[in-house]
Amino acid sequence: MLFKLRLYAIIGTLISMAACQSTTAPASAFNLSSLTLQDGRFHENQERTLAYLKFIDVESLLYVFRETHNLSTQNATPNGGWDAPDFPFRSHVQGHFLTAWAQCWASLGDETCRDRATYFVAELAKCQANNEAAGFTEGYLSGFPESEFTLLREGRLQNGNVAFYAMHKTLAGLLDVWRYIGDSTALDVLLGLAGWVDAYTSGLSEVHMQQILQTEFGGMPDVLAEIYLDTKDERWLVTAQRFDHHAVLKPLAENVDDLNGLHANTQVPKWIGAVHEYRATGNKTYLDIARNAWQMTVNTHTYAIGGNSQAEHFRAPNAIAGYLAADTCEGCNSINMLKLTRELWLLDSADSAYFEFYENALLNHLLGQQNPDEPHGHVTYFTSLNPGGRRGVGPAWGGGTWSTDYESFWCCQGTALEHNTRLVDSVYFRRDETSTLYVNLFIPSVLDWTEKQTKIVQTTAFPLEDTTTLTIKTQQQPSEWTLQVRIPEWTFDPEIKVNGVDYTTLLQPGTYAAITRTWSDRDTVQLHFPMRLYTRPANDNSSIEAIVYGPTVLCGDYGDSALSSTPTLALDTVSRVESDSTLAFTALANGQNVTLTAFYEAHDFNYNVYWATTGELSVEI
Ligand SMILES: *[C@@H]1O[C@H](CO)[C@@H](O)[C@H](O)[C@H]1NC(C)=O
Ligand SMILES: *[C@@H]1O[C@H](CO)[C@@H](O)[C@H](O)[C@H]1NC(C)=O
Ligand SMILES: *[C@@H]1O[C@H](CO)[C@@H](O)[C@H](O)[C@H]1NC(C)=O
Ligand SMILES: *[C@@H]1O[C@H](CO)[C@@H](O)[C@H](O)[C@H]1NC(C)=O
Ligand SMILES: *[C@@H]1O[C@H](CO)[C@@H](O)[C@H](O)[C@H]1NC(C)=O
Repeated sequence: MLFKLRLYAIIGTLISMAACQSTTAPASAFNLSSLTLQDGRFHENQERTLAYLKFIDVESLLYVFRETHNLSTQNATPNGGWDAPDFPFRSHVQGHFLTAWAQCWASLGDETCRDRATYFVAELAKCQANNEAAGFTEGYLSGFPESEFTLLREGRLQNGNVAFYAMHKTLAGLLDVWRYIGDSTALDVLLGLAGWVDAYTSGLSEVHMQQILQTEFGGMPDVLAEIYLDTKDERWLVTAQRFDHHAVLKPLAENVDDLNGLHANTQVPKWIGAVHEYRATGNKTYLDIARNAWQMTVNTHTYAIGGNSQAEHFRAPNAIAGYLAADTCEGCNSINMLKLTRELWLLDSADSAYFEFYENALLNHLLGQQNPDEPHGHVTYFTSLNPGGRRGVGPAWGGGTWSTDYESFWCCQGTALEHNTRLVDSVYFRRDETSTLYVNLFIPSVLDWTEKQTKIVQTTAFPLEDTTTLTIKTQQQPSEWTLQVRIPEWTFDPEIKVNGVDYTTLLQPGTYAAITRTWSDRDTVQLHFPMRLYTRPANDNSSIEAIVYGPTVLCGDYGDSALSSTPTLALDTVSRVESDSTLAFTALANGQNVTLTAFYEAHDFNYNVYWATTGELSVEI
């Protein structure tokens, strides 16, 4: 890629700008309660998910827990799909609801969501308290009987149940209800269940435990390490480390890419767990595992839209063009990769590469995963990258169809509930409480920086426009602090204006710009990140490329026409269609005119993302 660097003359006198700082002091996140999305495309997604969270019948969600724990199901209607009473790992989705409700309370102060979460936890507590009558061991809590774990231990669990995967969701949901709502029942139920996990695993030899870990177990090490970080009780760290899956972690520690053929979303939570285990132990091997896994996945297993996997599996490193199928880019994987990215960036906040990836997956994969034409924020499981793919159309069990209110409850539906209720959580971060503020994403939002009694209001129509404005609102005396702004790698000739005056220094795409000055009420910072058209070639075939404008991956609109193979697009025919409100281009592909628009808005038509390309893009665009 070619980036022009421009050296600006120094204009502002009060202004001084440090070169992009390299620092190892960890950054920290703001509480969700300090962050608010403003109107825009992300806010619309959040609103639709919120509507579903308030609509869903809580009694139906409790059905499998109550039935399993020998309590009355209260005449509720059982759910279908992956929560049906005969589905092997039923009760996995409820933990996602708990997390999403808790986040809506934390972020929006939504009392309905808070009350749903605390009611649900109180009912789970009754289930857990009834274990003796149900014939279960103390602390057990699930929508399927404990005998499934006996079969797992004996190597005889062959019905497709991923028992610890489902249990992890319950643990994580309870932890979030405790953290965000402060509900002490959630903590009691959580520690009771974690105690059950400790008891189950403590008597097993390491060899035996490693055999058990061959069955997908979600984020068990992650949630247990988080409980340790919150409680400082060593017991949870010891239990977490029993879930270190050596066969997968060892090659990663050695930076060997052995991912080919592995079920992708089974692995990513192990890496997130490794970051928390690093934070818990200081053992650098865990950090190496997570960083190496991130590098491999992002650089050699990721499609142009930021998603990974085909048919849920990692393929060989760099195998991209060979796997443009209907079942690419499972939703969970990208949501978990965002979590991993955020955790790694917090430990290495000088490296903007993390948020280059984050922005890409957030905008180009996940924003369009949700159906904007439907009020409950339903999503697709995969995002098809085959020629003529279409969101909402695909294999019946969830390949491409939209999720539904009561008949799906897939993994990707659950993770999307979490994701769409914390969309604002990675826009701003800070370091040293009051000295440094990071702006990583360009999304309309407000930060309430309570320690400084200062608000930051970000106003933008990004990525439909290439500017974003930050306005400082404070009742306090002017104070000095540093604003660290991510200069995206895809821009050229970036400009920053402070109170309308050109800001000055080497603004280098793919780094942070640090603005240290004395900030006052009503100061404004305008960021201008010009966008241009470029291509993102498949790693394994440089003539198969996606077309990208600034941060936005474009796709061809084929209406209802089928495509049987990758169309050939003449790059020198791509031209911009003038429009204030949308991104639109035209080009000739297979000799026919085709309109190119933002892939995240590709709904209700057959699209094409990867093209066989000829010629070169015109430099003027
Ligand atoms: C953030 O949340 C934590 C835990 O809920 C709480 O202890 C802390 O006071 C909050 N901080 C701010 C600045 O709101
Ligand atoms: C609870 O278990 C007992 C003994 O197995 C059984 O008779 C009873 O019907 C169960 N009750 C419910 C509500 O499942
Ligand atoms: C650090 O963690 C790795 C991976 O689990 C382990 O093999 C190693 O023994 C640990 N090192 C120390 C010093 O505990
Ligand atoms: C790359 O893709 C082009 C266009 O489809 C094709 O002609 C060529 O054979 C491919 N090259 C490789 C190495 O697969
Ligand atoms: C493509 O569209 C342009 C502008 O509308 C038109 O002049 C041209 O004939 C079209 N080309 C083809 C191949 O349809």
